[in-house]
Amino acid sequence: MNQLFPFPPEASLESRGVDMLYFAMVGVSFLIIVIVFGLIVIFAWRYRAGSAALRTRLPAFFSREVEIGWTLATLLAFLGIFAWAAGARQVHFAPPENALNIRVVAKQWMWKFEHPSGAREIDALHLPMGVPVRLNMTSQDVIHSFYVPAFREKQDVLPDRIVTLWFTPTELGTFPIRCAEYCGTDHSLMDGEVVVVTPAEYARWSERNGDRGLPASGAQRFAALGCAACHAARSGIAPRLAGLFGSRVRLEGNRTVVADDAYLERSILDPRADIAKGYLPVMPSYRGVASSEDVSALIAYIKSLRAGGKP
Ligand code: CUA
Repeated sequence: MNQLFPFPPEASLESRGVDMLYFAMVGVSFLIIVIVFGLIVIFAWRYRAGSAALRTRLPAFFSREVEIGWTLATLLAFLGIFAWAAGARQVHFAPPENALNIRVVAKQWMWKFEHPSGAREIDALHLPMGVPVRLNMTSQDVIHSFYVPAFREKQDVLPDRIVTLWFTPTELGTFPIRCAEYCGTDHSLMDGEVVVVTPAEYARWSERNGDRGLPASGAQRFAALGCAACHAARSGIAPRLAGLFGSRVRLEGNRTVVADDAYLERSILDPRADIAKGYLPVMPSYRGVASSEDVSALIAYIKSLRAGGKP
């Protein structure tokens, strides 16, 4: 099979399902091609000029019921494939809460990754095997598309928005990352690799390359960027940040949202997207003001603020 179809390996929990869907659709398409072209050839032969074939009314078998029956059967078969594909896609909207959150910044022409420990890398992404990973991605210029063929995962990365993608790597090794959206001159060179290692190795790697001082550096940036003016414990202007991380937040419009990494990042860069209930939308956007490093540090700082208010 693999010699005939040189497919990338199936290296994530999700890849098997994607492949099955893919092969089922190729199979169905192939079946339809065989039927259609088979009939073309048979009819061309049977009704060629001068043949003695009957050219009267349709045989009695092709009643209205049979016509309606096979039309409905085909419709149901294709709706079934739609439901199957939509179900497989649906899973993507509910990342598990214990997922490892990694920030991804795409720009012409590189992929930047920032781990919770503060470890940063470019065009390489270390991941632990068997752990659900959630990528919170944004672009600093045009639309890119994060694509790891071996994981069968692809997601457009948009400027001014935080999009997420989650999956679970299941194989050790290195797997290519591609940009799957034409994004300018060096689009074809905008690649990298995922390095999947054991959880223990990942912990060591992330510790070694991390920054223990990240929350403290976040606290400094919090002061320097003027966040404290409104987010001080008793200001009343803005929601308190102590104990915020991981809690359920009530928003205007009767929505609730879990304050996870993506929520914190969105609230810094696009504060009007989710207005906490009872507060006015007075916070300015920090897009272009806070650097990507600032955002990582601020998130680490807010995470470190336990309910008591002290890191
Ligand atoms: Cu980035 Cu193509």
